[in-house]
Amino acid sequence: MKQIKIFDSREVALQRLIENRPFTVSLNNLKICLVRYGSFISAFKSACPHSGTSLSEGFVNSENEIVCPLHGYRFSLIDGSEKSGHSCELYLYGTELREDGLFINLK
Ligand code: FES
Repeated sequence: MKQIKIFDSREVALQRLIENRPFTVSLNNLKICLVRYGSFISAFKSACPHSGTSLSEGFVNSENEIVCPLHGYRFSLIDGSEKSGHSCELYLYGTELREDGLFINLK
């Protein structure tokens, strides 16, 4: 497992990641979408598992789900499960918010 640091401190991470607003970073040729709610940060591939549309263009609803802008599939930011009754699932990367930055665990 490879851990990649994003942002130089916890404070910077919390400032840059506006709550419930998708934020995209490029890591190792991957586009990763980050969504913060409170001090929890969810990280996942920006490409929708249904058909590849950028989930970074979607929005977060009141159920802590990212909603795809193309077909409206909803994915849990907590466990990646799809909530609209379809069979695809979002792969979540582990995140760790520490005083010295935000760390994302890539496989
Ligand atoms: S591309 Fe995201 S739901 Fe279809």
